[in-house]
Parts: sequence; structure tokens; C-alpha cells
Amino acid sequence: MPKLKVITFGCQANELDSARIAGLLAHEGYSLTEDDGEADLIILNGCSIREKAEQKLYSRLGALQVMKLRQPGVRLGVAGCLAQREGDALLRRFPHLDLVVGNGEHLAEISQLLRREHGRPVAATAEPVGLFPSNLDVHRDSRFRAWVGIMEGCDNFCAFCVVPLTRGRERSRPPDEVVREIVALRDRGYREITLLGQTVNSYGAKLEPRVSFAALLRRIDAEVGTAMRVRFTTSHPKDVTPDLAEAMRTLPSVCPHIHLPVQSGSTRTLARMERTYTREAYLDRVRLLTTFVPGLAITTDIIVGFPGESDEDFLETLSLMREVRFDGSFAFKFSPRAGTPASDFTDQVPESEKVTRLAKVLALQDEISLERNRALIGHQVEVLVDRELSKRDSGLAAGRTRQNKIVHFGGDAVEEGTLATPKITEATPHHLKGVLIASS
Ligand code: 5AD
Ligand code: SF4
Repeated sequence: MPKLKVITFGCQANELDSARIAGLLAHEGYSLTEDDGEADLIILNGCSIREKAEQKLYSRLGALQVMKLRQPGVRLGVAGCLAQREGDALLRRFPHLDLVVGNGEHLAEISQLLRREHGRPVAATAEPVGLFPSNLDVHRDSRFRAWVGIMEGCDNFCAFCVVPLTRGRERSRPPDEVVREIVALRDRGYREITLLGQTVNSYGAKLEPRVSFAALLRRIDAEVGTAMRVRFTTSHPKDVTPDLAEAMRTLPSVCPHIHLPVQSGSTRTLARMERTYTREAYLDRVRLLTTFVPGLAITTDIIVGFPGESDEDFLETLSLMREVRFDGSFAFKFSPRAGTPASDFTDQVPESEKVTRLAKVLALQDEISLERNRALIGHQVEVLVDRELSKRDSGLAAGRTRQNKIVHFGGDAVEEGTLATPKITEATPHHLKGVLIASS
């Protein structure tokens, strides 16, 4: 039986795509391995959102090419956004590469491409216009939580972002197909799903008839009720509607957490980023959500050192963080990406300044996260127990709360995939500690 190793660099969408590749190739007789030396086929599924992400993949690919000199039988492939972006150029740069496949429907072409004569490099990276076929099995590592892709691509063209160039235009899966997949997961005992899309809450805008994201949540909730937790990521502020806030408030399955990238707190910078909202409009959306949804956790993405970002602009980002009091954030130094408008802006911020600003954002976020987490001390919370979150050898169980916070807790050993109720006793910026009160 041939062996496959998939190495994933990047976001949840890449993780889901890796699971799709593994499912697809299982049909071709491949079983998964973790061991480079044992693999007949190694696929690097890579990200190109920032330069650092690309460098990681390139250095791994370089090492695998050296390995291939010793093991010429092994085939090497690159998939994902990096493959989509670079296409044939990758084959020229890495002469030992056998396969380059892009996103969307291209992923499903892997098996057919592999059947071509051994040793002949192939690439399939025309702009993706379709979706991964829903009749193909996804290989899921977890037996209790799953990603469910509901839309792909993006039409927003933020000035810094390659995603519209790598994942193509926004397109959504029909709601019946999404609901069918979720019902099958429910029937197999899954306890949590995360609906995925580049701008997940823009779901359905181009479907005929149009279906809103809130309407999709209602349909899913009608099927899963309290049997499952429903999460979703990533949301765009422009599509936060009263209807979505209402759905989050009333549907028992939907978790009170939203990842809502702000990118900057300065209206001037937001305009140059082409984010289509102002600081005030973002704050209005946050107020709408927090007024409707009790106990809502909000996380965000922030870019520091976007071209032309002045000290004043940056201070506005810090002040917005204080105003919203995000539960958590991912902060990034602006990375110029060829083909995006911002890479050609002439007022680039020096690297040293980006480093200083990033450190300030991280320090402030830690302070705010700690404050928010401390407010949970003494509370009982529901967690879905997940072994992957346990610290090795700590003897503690761990899980995520409905607000998506990680809790480590002692007490009786509880089984993975079950719900437990710890009482919070301690807080750090990045996780909580508790003692077990009950488990089901
Ligand atoms: N430089 C830095 N960060 C970026 N992101 C997207 N493109 C860039 C870039 N060129 C960040 C944004 C986005 C997250 C997924 O990655 O914050 O929300
Ligand atoms: Fe990129 Fe998100 Fe902007 Fe789309 S909305 S271009 S994915 S940052």
C-alpha cells in the first residue's frame, strides 16, 4: 500500500484542504504516514499570505529535494495557495518537484495527475472557479470536531492581501449540500463543527435564490440543536448584520465567539487598505454584536506597519484595542506581496518600526486578554475535551469553552470528545485553569 505524507503550512482552510487531499488519495489506496522516509508521496500544502509562510515551505521543500537524491522513488508535490500563485515557476525552481496543484476544484485533480507517467512534472493552477466536489470523502483526524467548508474565495481585494489571487472569486456551496454534510457528521457522533470560508459571513450572496449566512445558521441549528456546537470563521465586518447578531443570540448551537479582523484602528489606514469600513463603522458592528449576544468573545487580526501608517495611526489601533477589549488577537507585520497594490506603495514602514509596533500590540493584547480571562475566575464553564490541547505530561485534561477559550483542568480523567464543566480557578493571557465539577 503506498504511503502519503501531507505537510500543512497555513490557515484552517489549508488544514481542511489537506484533509481533502488525504481523503481523495485514500481512494487511490494511499495510507497516511508521519515519516518522511516511509512516504511514497509527500505533499506540502502551503500558504502565501506572508513572505515568512512561503519561506517555511521553500526551506522544507529544499530539504526534501536533497532527500529525494537518496530516495529517487519518492514523489514530491506542492498544493495550496503557494502552488496556485507560483504555478509552473515552482517546477522550474525545484527540478525534483513532481506535482503542483492549486486550490478549489484543482485539488480534486491530484489523483488523475499522479497517474501520468512517473517523473513528469505537472501543474494545474489556472484560476480556480469551482469548489472541491462534495461527494469526495474528507479524511478527518478528529472523531468529534470537524471543519466544514461553506464558501471559498474572496471579492474584497484588500490592498495587502493575496487571497483573491490564490483562492479566486467568492463562491458558496448550496445550503442543502452543507446541511447534508453536517447531518452526516452529527449522525457519526461529531460534537463540534467550524464553518469555514475566507469571509464566511458573506456566504450565499451569489446563490440563486440568495441565502444569507444567518439563514444558513438557522437551518443548521434546526438539524443539530444542542447535539453540536457550531463555530464559524473568518467573518468580515461589512457582513455583520442585525440578523446575524439575532441568530447568534437565539440559536443554541451557535457559540458566542466571533473572529472579526479589524486590521487597523485608523480610518485613514483602513481606507488605504481598502477595507470598506471606518473605525466607527467597525465599532458599531462590535456594539451591535455585544448588545445582542451575551458573553460574546471577540478576537481579531491586526496588521502593523502598513505603508504610510504614522505614529498617530498606530496609536489609534492601540486605542481601538482598548475600546473593544478583544479576547485575543493575531498581529502581523505588514508583508509586501507581489501583485497586490500595497506592495507598490512608496511609503513603506521600516522593519525596525514594524518590530516595535508589533511588540506593543502583543504586550497590550496580553494585558487585555489577562483581564478578560481573570473575569472568568469562579465561573463554571462548558468545555469540549480535546487531547490535542493538553500539555504533555501535565496530567491535566483540556478543552475549549463555547467562547473558544482553552481551559486546563485537573480532576477525574475525562474522555476526549465529551463535555465537561470545570470551575475556573486561575487565568493567564492565553488560557485558563480550573477544577472539574462535572462531566457528561
Ligand atoms: N501582510 C501581513 N499580514 C497580512 N494578512 C493578510 N495579508 C497580509 C500581509 N500582506 C493578515 C490579515 C488577515 C490574516 C489572515 O493575515 O490580518 O486577516
Ligand atoms: Fe484577504 Fe480577507 Fe481582505 Fe479577502 S477580506 S482580501 S481574504 S483580508
